[in-house]
Amino acid sequence: MNTFNALLKIEHLSITEIESLIEQALKFKKNKNIPKLKKDIFIANLFFENSTRTHKSFEIAQKKLGFNVINFESESSSIKKGETLYDTVLTLNCLNVDCFVIRHSDKEYYNELINSKNFTSKLINAGDGVGEHPTQSLLDLMTIYENFKTFKNLKIAICGDLKHSRVAHSNMKILNKLGAKIYFSGPKEWFEESYLEYGEYKNIDDLIHEVDVLMLLRVQNERHIDRLNNNINYLSEYGLNRDRYNSLKENAIILHPCPVNRNVEIESSLVESEKSKIFTQMNNGLYMRMAILYYMYKDDFNDIN
Ligand code: CP
Repeated sequence: MNTFNALLKIEHLSITEIESLIEQALKFKKNKNIPKLKKDIFIANLFFENSTRTHKSFEIAQKKLGFNVINFESESSSIKKGETLYDTVLTLNCLNVDCFVIRHSDKEYYNELINSKNFTSKLINAGDGVGEHPTQSLLDLMTIYENFKTFKNLKIAICGDLKHSRVAHSNMKILNKLGAKIYFSGPKEWFEESYLEYGEYKNIDDLIHEVDVLMLLRVQNERHIDRLNNNINYLSEYGLNRDRYNSLKENAIILHPCPVNRNVEIESSLVESEKSKIFTQMNNGLYMRMAILYYMYKDDFNDIN
């Protein structure tokens, strides 16, 4: 696999590249041959939306691989004086930051940067509003592959707040391309016609007994303009309760990108149930982010083979 300069959308990666990233992440998970950088490389993590998993797993991955990590606090930066994201990033670029990991509420916030002749660093999208979340998608793929050793013909239900979920937007595209059969479920208000390109909509009770992967989505309250009808009990209408859990196939797995709204998307007692891979996803996120950084800077690492 060749090195790459940006990871903005999951579809920018070929199937072969995705397979290489999963293979490398699984090797890192076995703790084999952690490479170290041969020179100083600075990475800045800019999170303009809250994050625990993505931010901290990137930071730990960077430290394990020997990067110099710059964490950026927007509250104490010149953003508070009105400086734009674009000018902030170009400023850090001038200070020899080699790579940026950025999360921002604007969809495709990166367009102005990648079209600028003054932006010469590498860039990883850690979530662009309702757009995409490619590194979450890769760790989800790793978790699915780890369990089933294939994507072909797996039945995968993506359930919940489809419209506002960047995780869903990345995953529906790539899982369809990888040969999985995609189903969508959840409130009809959050389903868009354009998703039919990737799969079909079904009620969760018509799906639950046949899926291999139940991918629950966080209800993104912070992105809602119109709240769902307050009288709706989300868990009993659309979520994973104990009855539905008991209908799952023996080998089915449950995914959720987190943070979980307990007793909304999933009954609290099921978060750590046998079929739940929610904490495995978080752990895999560390190794997948190591694999992404390793491939972005492959020529700058000592040889691990
Ligand atoms: N899955 C995810 O993006 O979690 P954080 O918002 O905590 O990074």
